[in-house]
Amino acid sequence: MSTTNGSGEKKRPQAPLGYGHDKKSGGKGRLSERESQGISFVLDGREVVAHDGETIWQVARRLGVDIPHLCYAPEPGYRPDGNCRACMVEVEGERVLAASCIRKPTAGMKVKTASERAKASRKMVFELLISDQPEREHSPDPISKFWNWADRIQIDASRFPAREIPAPDRSHPAMAVNLTACIECNLCVRACREVQVNDVIGMAGRGAAEKIVFDFDDPMGRSTCVACGECVQACPTGALMPASVVDERNVRVGVADRTVESVCPYCGVGCQLTYHIRNDKLLYVAGRNGPANENRLCVKGRFGFDYIDHPHRLKKPLIRKDGVKKRADDTVDPANPWTHFREGTWEEALDRAARGLKQIRDRDGDRALAGFGSAKGSNEEAYLFQKLVRTGFGNNNVDHCTRLCHASSVAALMETIGSGAVTATFAQCANSDVIIVIGANPTENHPVAATYFKNAAKRGATLIVMDPRGQALKRHATHMLQAKPGTDVAMLNGILNVIVAEGLYDKQYVQAHTDGFAAFAEHIRDFAPEEMAPICGIPADLLRTVARTYARAKSAIIFWGMGVSQHVHGTDNARCLIALALMCGQIGRPGTGLRSSRS
Ligand code: SF4
Ligand code: SF4
Ligand code: FES
Repeated sequence: MSTTNGSGEKKRPQAPLGYGHDKKSGGKGRLSERESQGISFVLDGREVVAHDGETIWQVARRLGVDIPHLCYAPEPGYRPDGNCRACMVEVEGERVLAASCIRKPTAGMKVKTASERAKASRKMVFELLISDQPEREHSPDPISKFWNWADRIQIDASRFPAREIPAPDRSHPAMAVNLTACIECNLCVRACREVQVNDVIGMAGRGAAEKIVFDFDDPMGRSTCVACGECVQACPTGALMPASVVDERNVRVGVADRTVESVCPYCGVGCQLTYHIRNDKLLYVAGRNGPANENRLCVKGRFGFDYIDHPHRLKKPLIRKDGVKKRADDTVDPANPWTHFREGTWEEALDRAARGLKQIRDRDGDRALAGFGSAKGSNEEAYLFQKLVRTGFGNNNVDHCTRLCHASSVAALMETIGSGAVTATFAQCANSDVIIVIGANPTENHPVAATYFKNAAKRGATLIVMDPRGQALKRHATHMLQAKPGTDVAMLNGILNVIVAEGLYDKQYVQAHTDGFAAFAEHIRDFAPEEMAPICGIPADLLRTVARTYARAKSAIIFWGMGVSQHVHGTDNARCLIALALMCGQIGRPGTGLRSSRS
């Protein structure tokens, strides 16, 4: 079954919900059409308009008015909580001040962000919070958001007594916990539970004894923390810090002298990040607001950078010493390669390599050499590499690692929808009612993508996980189909059979955009769930439920991984999934589509 005119793949996915909501619009000049439909109110004596859903704080920020904030992070995925009261503003006619981070304006409301009452209240909040902080020079982060705001509102001391402070926790190798600086703003809890959905951090205790805890008040290093570092990035005080920037007393010692914006070098999600560097050494990594990650990172991108300064890392070319022959049973100690190699210049090394390749080609003919490229290279590098093989080696013996992991998916996609590219981004699942994840273990292989699946399940989407292994996403799944290994085609055929037999397919889409449906329907007739259940091990009733759920969804999306593509039936597996999407018209709209993921 395939598309006739490619309409499925032509409709490009839309930007994920919420993306870019943090951008300032300037707020000057004539009102746009959208603004003119918003809510008019008065901010510091000026008539302004709030967009749909905007809080007073967001309108103020869009118009260039800064209001202190601690428990609120104006970043994608973070809801306001309104607990710290650092952002209080005065609303005319109201007896009490309002928390601007959570309060939405109403028509005609008059708000003063800098009245004497509001400023006095904010100063008092900071004075109370400072009473529990260590002296600034002994603080885990004297340049934190907290201290920056304290500077701006000119508070640096407190009249109030300090409470008893929990002991520091240095049990984690990558993160330092120092609750002496904690203001119980709850941002780390939202980071862990709502953004990354790892459910490790919580609040425990009451009153002055309240504190954040990991699991059942375990040391962080012995908790179920997966070290995504989201809580560290969110913490406004330095109570949670990258261990690489504090000393053994938990005082910040490392301040970056420059930053470099880059893309994470690990998996294919494409998370954008910022490297913070001091004296040409990488100090710590922060997530950046890219379309694939919206500031999120996983343990690899955030903390996996020690290899850069590892003493075994080759920084200069090594050239085999004259007289040291290659032997299959020989080993080289990476800490002491000088037994076999000497240092050379790049010119010498490149010249030697080129001469060696040329010698082989001239001696053994132009079919003697071949090249195998890596997906770690850029498009430009891949282009240059094939050029080297074709023009330098003189043959077409060039291949790429992606053809191993993705070839089956590309073959099926080319055959059915005419393009080997995926039709949706990970983040599209924000718009999906039903999400199928099959043959993939995203919490381990693509952890940032997994956060979007978990976010969607948390908001109520039906998550269907198909995998012989009982993997971590199972906890979030509505249906977990642990089929017998190698029986994906039988399981998927059972689902396809139900959709055809019960007439659940999208007749309009099938008629307008596909061909071969009649033959497909005839073929799938023999694969009833009752026949497939003994083969794949999934009960027939569950196959029926999944088929109905997917087919009836307003928007359903399929993500598949190498558990189905790197397989003897890889192309068949992909064909089944593509047929499923096409026959149900679940493609070409927001929240729908087909997405295969590579390593
Ligand atoms: S590092 Fe990630 S998983 Fe660990 S506690 Fe922080 S937010 Fe939760
Ligand atoms: S550790 Fe940081 S983010 Fe968490 S509650 Fe304390 S101050 Fe807030
Ligand atoms: S930032 Fe508004 S209450 Fe904390």
